Amino acid sequence: MGYRVVVVGATGNVGREMLNILAERQFPVDELAALASRRSLGTEVSFGDKTLKTKDLDTFDFTGWDMALFAVGSEATKEYAPKAAASGCVVIDNSSLYRYDPDVPLIVPECNPEAVHGYSKKNIIANPNCSTAQMVVALKPLHDRATIKRVVVSTYQSVSGSGKEAMEELWDQTKAVYNPTQDVPAKVYTKEIAFNVIPHIDVFMEDGSTKEEWKMVAETKKIVDPKIKVTATCVRVPVFVGHSEAVNIEFEEFLDEDEARDILRESPGIMVIDKREDGGYVTPKECVGDFATFISRIRQDSTIENGLNLWCVSDNLRKGAALNAVQIAELLGREVLKKG
Ligand SMILES: NC(=O)c1ccc[n+]([C@@H]2O[C@H](COP(=O)([O-])OP(=O)(O)OC[C@H]3O[C@@H](n4cnc5c(N)ncnc54)[C@H](OP(=O)(O)O)[C@@H]3O)[C@@H](O)[C@H]2O)c1
Repeated sequence: MGYRVVVVGATGNVGREMLNILAERQFPVDELAALASRRSLGTEVSFGDKTLKTKDLDTFDFTGWDMALFAVGSEATKEYAPKAAASGCVVIDNSSLYRYDPDVPLIVPECNPEAVHGYSKKNIIANPNCSTAQMVVALKPLHDRATIKRVVVSTYQSVSGSGKEAMEELWDQTKAVYNPTQDVPAKVYTKEIAFNVIPHIDVFMEDGSTKEEWKMVAETKKIVDPKIKVTATCVRVPVFVGHSEAVNIEFEEFLDEDEARDILRESPGIMVIDKREDGGYVTPKECVGDFATFISRIRQDSTIENGLNLWCVSDNLRKGAALNAVQIAELLGREVLKKG
């Protein structure tokens, strides 16, 4: 016996990946409902070798469904996730709406799987921000060995992190550079993204940081350790899929770069590609479609007492969203619901 699973936002970037990953990982599905807005009622989406027609979220009855993987943005989540949860269906949510709610566990299964048991307060589990998810997979095993004091991270985030319209904007603006008769003004972003980089993701906060940067701080604390200090600069780059991060870590204890490399090689969800030669590192283009978080450029930071630098790359639609959500579904199944 398997699960009755709902994918909410099945026509979106993350929703489509969720359907792919549920099929790829052979998640024990008895029945699957693919939901989107009324606009796309009847749109066909793929689930393994099956084709499903999307249904309207607004009229869907969640009663009798085991879990719902939400990928629809905070507004629609606010309206529909409580309804799904109240009808007994466990919600695994990709939006930022519930991430900081003390009654909702925020989970990266490689880091804090034990948090799954806190799901029952609201029947909701939150999935972290894409930049946080890949970074904490690398931080946790290093923290367990040498206790992290402070992290300084700069991100290079792909446009797929802002949804399908942002991918079209990069595509259309790129084409317009070669065909200048076409003007493609910035809509999703505040400045042109093609052949450019934009140091601004999500809204500005009072202290001059952005909400995306704040999310990395708050979520790392909730998932790994509230004592870790994080300072982040989040930047959008003209890459379609795959987020990259340059991460500087300061530890309580000395951690040698070779030992760090060995620890990361042995850690779940991580692939170390770190040859000190031309091309001996991973770029976002190479991580697309992969499950792993790739770590390269591991090296001592000699400007502080116990410091390391590393380069961290992952498919943001997978580990940063859909894969992590499916891993949470697997964890929930294994530890709590116990079907399949
Ligand atoms: N992309 C990432 O890397 C990433 C990472 C972590 C978290 N997330 C989060 O995941 C969520 C989805 O992101 P995305 O990139 O997949 O966005 P997207 O490509 O723009 O897709 C949005 C999906 O939500 C549906 N939707 C929107 N409003 C709806 C409503 N009122 N009722 C029903 N369905 C509605 C859309 O359906 P229609 O096609 O019918 O409009 C579509 O299926 C967001 O909360 C985002 O912040 C994304």
